[in-house]
Amino acid sequence: MNLAAPLFKPCLSKEFWHTFTNLVVSNTSAAIIAIDKKGNVIFFNRQAELVFGKNEQEVLGKQLTSVFAHLAEHEHYLLMALKTGRGMTDVETNFCPYTDREGVFVHSVALVKTALGIDGAIWMRKDFTDLRRFQQEINNAEVQAIVSQIAAGAAHEIRNPLTTARGYLQLAQKKTDSEIAPYIAGALEEIMEIESIIANLLSLFRPRSTSLQFVPLNGLIKKLLRLVENAGLFNNIVIRTILDKHVPLCLLDAKLIKHAILNVLRNAIEAMPNGGSLTVKTSYDTDAELICINISDTGKGIEPDYLPEIIKPFYSTKKQGSGLGLTLANRIIHHHNGSLEIKSTYGQGTSVLLYLPVSQ
Ligand SMILES: Nc1ncnc2c1ncn2[C@@H]1O[C@H](COP(=O)(O)OP(=O)(O)OP(=O)(O)O)[C@@H](O)[C@H]1O
Ligand SMILES: [Mg+2]
Repeated sequence: MNLAAPLFKPCLSKEFWHTFTNLVVSNTSAAIIAIDKKGNVIFFNRQAELVFGKNEQEVLGKQLTSVFAHLAEHEHYLLMALKTGRGMTDVETNFCPYTDREGVFVHSVALVKTALGIDGAIWMRKDFTDLRRFQQEINNAEVQAIVSQIAAGAAHEIRNPLTTARGYLQLAQKKTDSEIAPYIAGALEEIMEIESIIANLLSLFRPRSTSLQFVPLNGLIKKLLRLVENAGLFNNIVIRTILDKHVPLCLLDAKLIKHAILNVLRNAIEAMPNGGSLTVKTSYDTDAELICINISDTGKGIEPDYLPEIIKPFYSTKKQGSGLGLTLANRIIHHHNGSLEIKSTYGQGTSVLLYLPVSQ
């Protein structure tokens, strides 16, 4: 026995459907075009006008092929549906030949069938490009937030026992004979490496600009270059500095900025294991009150596909890399209301541009 209540079937008037359809069709964000069985445009909604840059009045009654004359017949979803007798539902494409744009487009075509056969077709095109990009960004941000929390927690936990282990090893180093001393020294070096990764990690999650001061950037760059030079980091690398003397003093947290520039310099040097040239250039845009530090190398460069990745945490192509150097540099520059841009030609070299506003 079926105890379910009988289905309510409202009796809707023609006027209701007319108003309803008008409302939906003129307010939807989808572009809708309909043609009759001869291929003439019989419907072109407001969104279609916006998307395709054509007026309803100028296209109604015209052949679809003449409205979009730059397209071949097989590129018209509507004409193909009429020809094959098959519609389509939510078919996603990454290119729209009508607007010559790349993105995410979802198409549906419904055939209008009567007792006498196919009478026309209706095409609905939705543009999901921005939505998809937005979702991707949210996903990235969520994943990064979770990873950040886990990493910060783990870094804390690791730091304490590591410090103790270092203490024991240093003690052992003092008391040991010469035979095992090199092993202890090696272990200590590795521990220092881990400690520096952890310090990087932790500062990544809490970059604080507490000590703002007026800094002469050209002078700071010269000091940093001397520092890496003294550390013997240069390997057949010729350094060129083109420092614009008009660069004004800049209100910065010098410690943080030094860290950011050092990370970028280190990357440039590491990209040229067989030598090359490193150019550090500063310039000042007086109108925008923006200083630019351009650090260019003639190293291996970055493949275009990986360019968006390198700024993300933990992305590294190096055996000993933590993949945090650039993330940290980027964070620090943004923290000073600046921006970081990377240009690279694979096999030829890379330029990292750090933009900093003079006043915060
Ligand atoms: N100047 C550059 N030339 C070529 N590749 C680069 C350059 N700078 C960065 N990269 C690429 O970007 C990746 C990420 O750089 P990042 O500084 O964040 O980490 P890392 O250098 O690998 O490790 P870490 O800086 O933590 O020691 C590098 O592993 C490298 O593949
Ligand atoms: Mg690095």
